[in-house]
Amino acid sequence: MARTRQWDPIQKHYGDTDISARILTRLRRAGYDLDKLSRKDTATFDEFHGGGRASTLALAAFASVDPGMRVLDLGSGIGGPARTLAAERGCRVTGLELTAEFVRAGKMLTERLGMAATVDFVQASATDIPFKAETFDIVWSQNMLMNVRDKEQLFREAFRVTKPGGVFALETVVAGSGEGLHFPTFWAADPSMNFLASARELRELATAVGFTEASFEDTTDAVIANGRRRLQAAKAEDRVELDLSVIVTTAVAEKMENSVCNNIEGKTRAVQALFQRLA
Ligand SMILES: C[S@@+](CC[C@H](N)C(=O)[O-])C[C@H]1O[C@@H](n2cnc3c(N)ncnc32)[C@H](O)[C@@H]1O
Repeated sequence: MARTRQWDPIQKHYGDTDISARILTRLRRAGYDLDKLSRKDTATFDEFHGGGRASTLALAAFASVDPGMRVLDLGSGIGGPARTLAAERGCRVTGLELTAEFVRAGKMLTERLGMAATVDFVQASATDIPFKAETFDIVWSQNMLMNVRDKEQLFREAFRVTKPGGVFALETVVAGSGEGLHFPTFWAADPSMNFLASARELRELATAVGFTEASFEDTTDAVIANGRRRLQAAKAEDRVELDLSVIVTTAVAEKMENSVCNNIEGKTRAVQALFQRLA
């Protein structure tokens, strides 16, 4: 990927350490045999969005992801959602991810889980997608839009690579009412990295580039419940070593706490949406 300085703070925010080594150390410490890993062993840390694996499955059902489809996951992180889609819906997934460390970790886990034939990764920005027009049945993205300033360009690119008849399936945090977001959040250490849009802005952008809105749902309550479960688990005496602290190396407790508070106080909302490309 061509080096673009505007993305440096985001890559540093997510991947300023050797994530692959960290993952393997934690899995080993938790007692797993690294040569016999299963997707269950990585589920508590490889789905890096508010609702975890359950919300990936809900969005997949919602979007009718079916066997044989080609899916592009924008901002794929370390590939948990991509592997869930391939394993549970029988599709072929390409994860597109900006942060080099996450791409490396995604490839490493996918190989160890024996899924390299159905899941692959490319390092790129979702605002400049290195694929031909009309390549994918489903363009997919979970909790990545908050890092992208030029969302119009992102929606334009998503539309370009979606086949006619295909959909853009989206999960994201959106701006709620009220000022004074609590930082750090999982996507931004401070306001300079935070590009939250309102639900209305997203819906307008999607239709402006040519998509037709098929559905738009508020999932904040489910995300708050999952956030509370994660917080409780993190505070427990016999605390799990395999929580989000495997891949989030700084201020993880604060970020968990702030995510729940921002949602409860209405400063942020969580949404899942489907936008169709009719022609
Ligand atoms: C909160 S994580 C979500 C990861 C993944 N979607 C998941 O749910 O497990 C946000 C991800 O978006 C990536 N990202 C941020 N801006 C991006 C961009 N312009 N293009 C591609 N990926 C981006 C980050 O590197 C990070 O991996």
